[in-house]
Amino acid sequence: MTRRYYIWTIGCQMNTADSRSVAEGLERRGFLPASSPEQADVIVLNTCVVRESAEQRARGRLSSLRPVKRKRPGAVLAVMGCLVGENEAELQREYPFVDLFLRPSHPEPLFALLDAGGCGERLSAPVSPVPVSAYLPISYGCDHHCTYCIVRLRRGPQRSRPVEDIYRDALELVERGAREIILLGQNVDAYGRDLPGRPDLADLLAKLHDIPGLWRLRFLTSHPADMQERLIEAVAELPKVCEHFELPVQSGSDAVLRRMGRNYTAGQYLELVGRIRAWVPDAGLATDVIVGFCGETDEDFQATRRLLEMVRFDVVHIAAYSVRPGTPAERLPDDVPPEVKEARRQELEQFQERIAGEINAALLGKSVEVLVEERQKGRWRGRTRQNKLVFFDSDQELAGALVDVRITWAGPWSLIGELERIKARTP
Ligand code: SAM
Ligand code: F3S
Repeated sequence: MTRRYYIWTIGCQMNTADSRSVAEGLERRGFLPASSPEQADVIVLNTCVVRESAEQRARGRLSSLRPVKRKRPGAVLAVMGCLVGENEAELQREYPFVDLFLRPSHPEPLFALLDAGGCGERLSAPVSPVPVSAYLPISYGCDHHCTYCIVRLRRGPQRSRPVEDIYRDALELVERGAREIILLGQNVDAYGRDLPGRPDLADLLAKLHDIPGLWRLRFLTSHPADMQERLIEAVAELPKVCEHFELPVQSGSDAVLRRMGRNYTAGQYLELVGRIRAWVPDAGLATDVIVGFCGETDEDFQATRRLLEMVRFDVVHIAAYSVRPGTPAERLPDDVPPEVKEARRQELEQFQERIAGEINAALLGKSVEVLVEERQKGRWRGRTRQNKLVFFDSDQELAGALVDVRITWAGPWSLIGELERIKARTP
């Protein structure tokens, strides 16, 4: 009888990568994907609690699985991700119908349970295809102490994966059809500090660069206090490494940055952006901002707005601050009223929409290189080297192709264009 699995994922790219590795582990044990939890023998809920709203969503979904589990008591229900930490005993009391709580990026107890139950034949090859643009974790956890952050509490201190392990995984991904690899870590700029010989991200990029059939490399997320000149130089000099930086700033006010424990000033951040642009003039720049952090005055907020105006980011992920249990900031007064947080969030969203619209409008009529990922609503979808989303029409089979597209429409979040030429195809 076919055994099936269902995985529900919310949150960051690391969760997406973790879910894919759980799916592969299950498929190697003979499980096939199910289209709903009601049809699955193994159900995995991969959670995010970075903000209160995410945690509520995860808990809502978990509660909705109670009747499913009642109807199918033989199914294994596992909860993974940042909901699970030292609070495990508490979670067990609250959700007694859950069979397993798995720490973020730690699916092993699920596999051990299935193997003990006789599922360990390991005869099958994974059935799900590898994406054209595939995530590859290079480190787990984080050694920073950002005062608002629950992620480091749940994911623990930094553990970098050895270069050889990452290289082996990258080879396999490319062999199975990936053309772009996105290296993942909470802070990729600190990669390797905990490894013998202290290899860094620039070394790792140089090593992976030689893999035949790999066309593009990216990495995220960076930390402004840890980014080294060597890395910027590597992006400038290694042709496969895309001109794209995910560099969270969080605030433009030094007082707020200090309370957040970010270890840099707004001036140092701007200087770093200057260095990036000097080495890589056409770099795509994305950032994260938190509005309404403890004690944020209108002046502090205006400083953030000014910083966004000065840098002109391609993408800004804006979040209203929410208190997370167990974080140092829980002890600070959460004194910005919710309606002020929301008004500041909306103001920045609108402001950034205008900036992104202007930046993208400059691409009208230009030809950009796109790595085609998949069809979406009848159109091909891919990304430029600067990580801009591009859609175009074509009757040809182009998944995994590298193409040039001439841009005919530009909005703040995506671009539309016409196929000009095919530069390379996935064999
Ligand atoms: N390690 C990455 C970094 O350096 O930013 C990712 C951390 S977190 C998964 C992603 C983003 O969520 C952060 O950059 C921050 O903007 C936001 N975030 C984290 N904690 C938050 C909180 N308590 N309230 C609102 N936003 C938060
Ligand atoms: Fe969190 Fe700061 Fe690390 S946001 S994951 S402690 S860099």
